[in-house]
Amino acid sequence: MTDNDTSSGATPLSFYDEVGGHDTFVRLVDAFYRGVADDDVLRPMYPEEDLGPAKERLTMFLEQYWGGPTTYSEQRGHPRLRMRHSPFHVNPDARDRWLAHMRTAVDELNLPPLHETTLWDYLQRAAMAMVNTFEPSGIGPAADGRAVGALPVTAASPDEPR
Ligand code: HEM
Repeated sequence: MTDNDTSSGATPLSFYDEVGGHDTFVRLVDAFYRGVADDDVLRPMYPEEDLGPAKERLTMFLEQYWGGPTTYSEQRGHPRLRMRHSPFHVNPDARDRWLAHMRTAVDELNLPPLHETTLWDYLQRAAMAMVNTFEPSGIGPAADGRAVGALPVTAASPDEPR
């Protein structure tokens, strides 16, 4: 082995690096949130007025997942994505909308076909796994945990007619 033989110790490029690193993930998530911002079902689910922090969390998560910096876990701990989505009404309609905005965003990246397929397969599988209800939108807990459209449940007072 010569001094300039790096074959034994070289680290293979991560998918994160192969697709262009941080810039690529920022572009992906920016484009995705442009779609969310105009979506009547998804936009109200986001508790914060400003989508910036949510954008940053998704970027950090995806970067970490694909072998980039581990900032997500340093700041947020274990991803536990299903649990973190449990307060939100993720039905098949919400999933399909989420995926439609992601599809547009992935297309904008113009990745080589193999990378594009790898990323898209993952996003589809992850979105399927996030569905937590089959109730139509408008029923079930709102972003802040209140029941939407549910009748108030109060005990009838004894002198009230039944
Ligand atoms: C299927 C439809 C989905 C809907 C409707 C949905 C909706 C939401 C909402 C409303 C939030 C809260 C905003 C925030 O605090 O960041 C959130 C957070 C998040 N979502 Fe989703 N999501 C979906 C799928 C996914 C998928 C497939 C992934 C991963 C590939 C993902 C990754 C994340 C991450 C990383 C966060 C931030 C978690 C945290 O650290 O608090 N989501 N999502």
